[in-house]
Amino acid sequence: MRIRCLGLIACITLFLPLTGMARSSAAEHGEYLATILGCGGCHTEGALLGEPSGEWLTGSRIGVAYTPDNTTQTPGIIFPSNLTPDKKTGIGRWSKRDIVRFLRTGMDHYGVQANTVMPWPNYALLSDKDVNALAEYLLSLDPVENQIPDSIEPGEPSTEAFVRIGVYLFIPEETPAAEGQQP
Ligand code: HEC
Repeated sequence: MRIRCLGLIACITLFLPLTGMARSSAAEHGEYLATILGCGGCHTEGALLGEPSGEWLTGSRIGVAYTPDNTTQTPGIIFPSNLTPDKKTGIGRWSKRDIVRFLRTGMDHYGVQANTVMPWPNYALLSDKDVNALAEYLLSLDPVENQIPDSIEPGEPSTEAFVRIGVYLFIPEETPAAEGQQP
């Protein structure tokens, strides 16, 4: 009995650090992926203007225009969410499975389909190992309370700064881009 008991204790002492290591190495891999996939390029304050000023992945008050018209001053605007597990302002109520489903399908925790400014159609191709590591990493972050503005419908004036992604500034004639332009 004593020997069995000792065996069990030895097993637990050996096993616990191993599971701990496994968990943190998945999160570490997730951190690596979040860095190279550029999640912080949108989800960190200031990053959309090339000058990150806020805490990593706590969301952006600078929005992104999602309607295609390049000239209107009142496009639809969405804001990159706070990705820390804060219950009120972040993804603290999401399970790991919710995050995996979101990255695969763009369907959020509340059943709302995300806009493709959030490049989930690309992330849908992540392997199971990678998508799980990303989810584990996000849930391992320290929760930070940071309320991000609600999205703004097309036609409504914005009180928040926003950027447009993929706007032509100069189109030389005789290029495929010029051919695609409306007169
Ligand atoms: C080009 C900008 C951009 C990049 C890069 C980006 N996101 Fe997003 N993300 C957004 C926007 C904008 C939203 C809000 C979408 C909406 O409201 O429809 C969003 C929403 C989300 C949400 C939903 C959160 C919520 O509370 O609804 C998660 C989770 C998320 N992104 C994770 C990631 C991860 C992980 C990466 C990197 C692998 C990433 N995003 C890269 C722009 C981006």
